Order: sequence, then structure tokens, then C-alpha cells
Amino acid sequence: MHIKIARFDAHRSPAHATVDVGIPEGLTLLQALLHIKATADPTLTFKAGCRSGICGICGVRVNGREELACAYKPNEGDLVEPLQYHRVMRDLAVEKKSIEETLGNAAAWLHHSRQTTISVEEEKRTEVQSDCMLCALCYSACPVFAVNENFLGPFALTRVYRYTADPREEDIKSAIDAIQSNGVWDCTLCGACTAVCPQGIDPKMDITQLRSTSAQFGYGDPNFMTMNFGF
Ligand code: SF4
Ligand code: SF4
Ligand code: FES
Repeated sequence: MHIKIARFDAHRSPAHATVDVGIPEGLTLLQALLHIKATADPTLTFKAGCRSGICGICGVRVNGREELACAYKPNEGDLVEPLQYHRVMRDLAVEKKSIEETLGNAAAWLHHSRQTTISVEEEKRTEVQSDCMLCALCYSACPVFAVNENFLGPFALTRVYRYTADPREEDIKSAIDAIQSNGVWDCTLCGACTAVCPQGIDPKMDITQLRSTSAQFGYGDPNFMTMNFGF
């Protein structure tokens, strides 16, 4: 079987190239990349950790769709590329530092809490969101980043929702205030993030919930509020 891999090396000329490589049948994409590195090209660069869909490090795009390399079985002619909207360090390895910055910009944490424990039932309310492994597949799939690199984006907003729904949070307003600019109203509700999440998280729904909570605090869609209907 043959697949195509996008290569990038800032010190090579040309820096960008697409190579066609043969791989054995029956491997995961990550196993195939490791096979290529061991047998044909030790310079092939990619990221991997757990090899079992837990750490979220091995995200790539296959034929334009985000996948975990360790969970994807290649098909003939697949094109493998790095995630979008992240700086490519080399080949399929991207810099994910911006993810930490985005979580900080979204203030995605518990703002004020005196209560230190929650019940098992309460914990289950946000169990799915808590499973986020920061793989960034949803970021790469989100079309908003093509026009607004400052968008807080799906997993940061999902994490904000996770804490606004936490019964220990006593300052939901601060959490909501922090996501009005480049946040909940910038999402197009296209659902691309939800479609690619390997953990079954639904950031689109979480953002919809955050919009409702925002409305309870007097916020609204700024685009809609400034629209002139000619009345
Ligand atoms: S639903 Fe919103 S956050 Fe998710 S991919 Fe679409 S625009 Fe981005
Ligand atoms: S929400 Fe899903 S796709 Fe996005 S970072 Fe978390 S686990 Fe990955
Ligand atoms: S290597 Fe950890 S999720 Fe793929």
C-alpha cells in the first residue's frame, strides 16, 4: 500500500514536499510512520506518546480530516498532513504551545469556590467534557481560525462550560465575561469540532449552552445586536 506524506523542513529547499511511501498492510498510521522511520527515512518527524488513543499527541490530518495517527488505519493513496493553525516544526510535528495560551485567554478554570468536594452524581454531569485530552483535532477542524487566529476555539470553550456547570463554581459571571470577545459569538455552530473529537465531546453543544448562560447575564450576539433592519 502507498500513502502520501507532507514533509516540511525550513532548512531544506524546497521546504515543502509531498512524498509517496510504501507501507505494509494492517498497520495503524502511527505504526506505519514508525515503520518508515525505522526502515526508510530516519528524518521523518512526527509526535507520538501512548500509542493507544489516550495522550492526544499524535494528531494529523488525513485527506483533510483530523485523526489520531495511533487510532487510524491507512487506506491506499491517503494524504497525511500536519494539523492546521499550528506552527509546523517539521513534517507532521506541530507546536502546541498556543493551546496553553488559549486556555489561559479563555480563563478556563474554577474562578471562585469555597466548596472542595462534589458528589459522584454531580461529577457525572461534566464527565464527558472532563475527558478532553487537548489533542487539538477540534482546533484544526474549526473554520473560524482561518479568519480569526484569536478565536478561543472549541476545546477551551468546552472547558469553560465544564467549569460553569461545576456546582463548586460560585463566580459563573467571571467565566462568562471572559468568553465574550473572540469567544461564544464567533463560533458558526458548524459542528466540525464535534465531528472529529475522538472522545465523543460535543463542543458545539457546549458553546450553545454557554450562549444561553451568557444571555442570562445580559450578553447577546454582537453581530445581531448591531444589525440595522431599517425599521
Ligand atoms: S462549531 Fe464552532 S467551534 Fe466548532 S468547529 Fe464550528 S465554528 Fe469552530
Ligand atoms: S474537545 Fe475533543 S477534539 Fe478537542 S481537544 Fe478535546 S479531546 Fe481533542
Ligand atoms: S500516541 Fe497517544 S493518542 Fe496517539
